[in-house]
Amino acid sequence: RISYYNGEYVNHDEMRIKSGDRAFYFGDGVYEVVRIYDGRFFTLDEHTDRLMASAEEVMIRGLERDEIVEILHEVRERNAITDGALYIQVSRGIAPRDHSFPDGSKPVIYASIREAKRPHGQMEEGVRAVTTEDYRWLKCHVKSLNLLANVMEKQYAVENGAKETIMHRDGVVTEGSSTNVFMVRNGTLFTHPADNLILNGITRQEVLKLAEANEIPFREEGFTVPDMSEADEVFYTSTTQEITPVTNIDGRQVGDGSVGGTTRKLQSLFNKKIT
Ligand code: PDD
Repeated sequence: RISYYNGEYVNHDEMRIKSGDRAFYFGDGVYEVVRIYDGRFFTLDEHTDRLMASAEEVMIRGLERDEIVEILHEVRERNAITDGALYIQVSRGIAPRDHSFPDGSKPVIYASIREAKRPHGQMEEGVRAVTTEDYRWLKCHVKSLNLLANVMEKQYAVENGAKETIMHRDGVVTEGSSTNVFMVRNGTLFTHPADNLILNGITRQEVLKLAEANEIPFREEGFTVPDMSEADEVFYTSTTQEITPVTNIDGRQVGDGSVGGTTRKLQSLFNKKIT
């Protein structure tokens, strides 16, 4: 497997990470995960734009969009993986540990690819989710390397026999630990607005585009945990999880406990986009 770090393409297992990389000390950087289906990137421009926007938001300067695109293509081409996920991260730079931004350091890029299978089983069957308070910072629209809260939230699901943790702030559902959350009530789709409290998922945006184009009514509007418990359907989305139905939340079944019609419709429309 060939990966990229700090100017060089290297054998993944022999990569030497610089000890002064601020990603290592501070998680001081941003990242993206891009899906590759049948040898082609899916929504590459959207992911690249969001990476640039995240970098800008946390004042990582000197990042070139063209360089990012080139590295992504190069890593894909150097590996014989047709169905996979490409991970790319950008840290603020390499410098001795000090909180303030180092003078004159350049962003450090890392990229690697792995094989990824579509999550057919869970998309068919649905998964269990649990809910907790969202205790992350207030710049959740940045795809930050700092994922400590998300990691803790995900583990909470694992330890409670669930696949995802759905977070809420003061009772209003924000998103999953690594996914965006939707509910369906009386045929209308609801999801949290794309503000600073969620990551504006590329898959989320694709779902909203599909809803728009296919006359499925939707509202980008906050809803509460009790609203969600009463919903007809709930699902979450991400680059790797696609459209995953949630059939049980905190031990209570959602709707009649089976995967709902609107979820199925969106899954089938999404399917057509990627195959
Ligand atoms: N996670 N919300 C959060 C907090 C996320 O980390 C992600 C993605 C999403 C969905 O975004 P998208 O549809 O653009 O993948 C929402 C990635 C896949 C990860 O960290 O592995």
